Amino acid sequence: MERTFLAIKPDGVQRKLIGEIIRRFETKGFTLVGLKLMNVSRELAETHYGVHRERPFFAGLVDFITSGPVVAMVWEGEGVIASARKIIGATNPLNAEPGTIRGDFGVNVGRNLIHGSDAPETAQQEISLWFKEEELANWQPSLLSWIH
Ligand code: TYD
Repeated sequence: MERTFLAIKPDGVQRKLIGEIIRRFETKGFTLVGLKLMNVSRELAETHYGVHRERPFFAGLVDFITSGPVVAMVWEGEGVIASARKIIGATNPLNAEPGTIRGDFGVNVGRNLIHGSDAPETAQQEISLWFKEEELANWQPSLLSWIH
């Protein structure tokens, strides 16, 4: 079953949007398999956003992600990587559609509330970067049957 990595960024945590954000993925029918509230080291932030290392916003992005607690999550379900990206909305919240998380709650690209993996390879890399295997839950298949 497909898995993706999602993280509620420090602005989402500070604005008390953890419950609201988790609710959107739960009510959609996806399954939570990993969840932790944590402070992010500079090393982890720089590795996670390594693809942007040469971009002008990189230093500010790392400062921001390390500025306060983040909720790191792994979600599972059919098509969850692409579907989560739709639920999250466009990178710049000003361009994000109403009804998406960024469209409903954000206005600033540097404070866009949540991260979601953009493809199967990055999802796999990010899950193993942020979580140990034993931190991920195993659901009995019978408990997942209500969505089918
Ligand atoms: P990116 O991977 O392009 O977007 P997404 O989070 O939607 O996958 O960029 C990573 C983060 O970098 C983005 O969430 C916010 C930040 N960022 C900026 O601060 N300024 C920018 O111009 C861009 C493109 C991104």
